[in-house]
Amino acid sequence: MIKVIVNGAKGRMGREAVKMIQHDTNFTLVGECVLKDDLAQVIKSTNADVVVDLTVASAGFENAKIILNAGACPVIGTSGFQLQQVKDLQQLAKSRQLGGLIAPNFSIGAVLMMKFAAQAAKYLPDAEIIEAHSPQKEESPSGTALRTAELISSARNKSTMAYSDKELLNGARGAELHHVKLHSIRLPGIVAQQTVFFGGLSETLKIEHNTLHRESFMLGICLACKEVVKRNTLVYGLEELIN
Ligand SMILES: NC(=O)c1ccc[n+]([C@@H]2O[C@H](COP(=O)([O-])OP(=O)(O)OC[C@H]3O[C@@H](n4cnc5c(N)ncnc54)[C@H](O)[C@@H]3O)[C@@H](O)[C@H]2O)c1
Repeated sequence: MIKVIVNGAKGRMGREAVKMIQHDTNFTLVGECVLKDDLAQVIKSTNADVVVDLTVASAGFENAKIILNAGACPVIGTSGFQLQQVKDLQQLAKSRQLGGLIAPNFSIGAVLMMKFAAQAAKYLPDAEIIEAHSPQKEESPSGTALRTAELISSARNKSTMAYSDKELLNGARGAELHHVKLHSIRLPGIVAQQTVFFGGLSETLKIEHNTLHRESFMLGICLACKEVVKRNTLVYGLEELIN
């Protein structure tokens, strides 16, 4: 039995994760932590194997450090990680010989969207990303959009086209990472959507993923909780576990 704590257990994702952990016979739910709880203390007192963190971008990095330092494997769904923070956590996990995962997106369809986008970028290097989430999302752009831009940038083997930087209104062309423009929509009614838009010579290609309900993330969280306990490194992206 894998002993699991859900941190952020009363949030929208946290509540779904609690249900999934309770229903899977491979897991025992040993803690449902909220903001006021002492996470390190709960990990130690329950001897938890895994902590699933689904909190807020401003807390994710500190929580991941607390989890590793307390001797548990982190499965981090909280968004907003910078690459340097991922590297720091990989170092910490290595020194502690613990497995872990930071996943910008737990949905299988979104992981495939990122893979297909990376494949397309080899042939069509000019790409822009449009993502949409609920207004409650703390940060923009989404972690998935940032990860997609990183994957597109690593996969490209042709240079991107030049374009004018002139904006009549600040922000009209969106943000930019590795020569990929990123545009964020925040509207009620949306769970998560992303379109990766490629342009080539007289042709365009759109790769789109839609999340209809948060239950779509649970398969990925379930897989991650089972995998991280078998490993001694921390990986970035669910695709690293699926491969
Ligand atoms: N990786 C993925 O596939 C995926 C999918 C959806 C959402 N997310 C991310 O997961 C996180 C949670 O999303 P949500 O929609 O459930 O948000 P939410 O606002 O509904 O829930 C967050 C919960 O965390 C609690 N919280 C805040 N700081 C905390 C802390 N330091 N310790 C413990 N609890 C704390 C809040 O009180 C709240 O109950 C966000 O960062 C979101 O972007 C990731």
